[in-house]
Amino acid sequence: MMKLHIYDTREAASEAAAALIAETVQALPAPVLGLATGGTFVGVYAELVRLARTSGIDFSRATTFNLDEYAGLPRLHPQSYYSYMVTHLFGPLGLRPEQCHLPDGSAPDPADECARYDALLAQAGRIDLQLLGIGHNGHIGFNEPDHALRSGTHVVELKPETREANARFFASPEEVPTQALTMGIGSILQARAIALVAFGADKADILARALAGPITTDCPASLLQTHGDVRVFADAAAAAGLGALTR
Ligand code: PGA
Repeated sequence: MMKLHIYDTREAASEAAAALIAETVQALPAPVLGLATGGTFVGVYAELVRLARTSGIDFSRATTFNLDEYAGLPRLHPQSYYSYMVTHLFGPLGLRPEQCHLPDGSAPDPADECARYDALLAQAGRIDLQLLGIGHNGHIGFNEPDHALRSGTHVVELKPETREANARFFASPEEVPTQALTMGIGSILQARAIALVAFGADKADILARALAGPITTDCPASLLQTHGDVRVFADAAAAAGLGALTR
């Protein structure tokens, strides 16, 4: 089942997404969160940090798993997703390092690292709430459009459009890594609940394809239509193509 939460502004949609994360953490004795990065989540995490401070939400029982990480970047590189998470969420919330998991993009053997990550996920047993952004080409995590998709954590070759979209965060386009480690589609779909967040007119077409188009590996996000509990948080601009679904 897919539930749409559409707001006039991205700030309002970020607040609603943050409230769902906070509710999940408060409701469960040992919450497991699947976390995402990207421009979309900067505002969501800022709101979550604000909520945690004002409402005293206890994150000490939470465990987190991030979707993905660039291959070849040292953990402390300013553009690693590890650095992003420390800056926007782990640091401000005061999470302990042992609570927070990301694939290590600098691991000497990426295949071993993917197996280590899947073992950690299996040990956690389930993800209670998986956060997702959506790429302009329909990727979720770094599961790029392809003729086939992988279930578990794996190394991916980033598409030129993904490297271009993310070049804005790097000093020069050539610095954007060419590969990443990402959780697979199987792990994402096993989450109990999924929150997909999308903002801006540039996401309108792909959001409509993902939610209302055919289910196809050409648009990995379209596989979310097979999941039983997906909440979509969007601003009006990103939701502009969802006409039939919103009526
Ligand atoms: P963005 O990335 O939030 O920076 O638009 C979304 C994604 O690629 O998943």
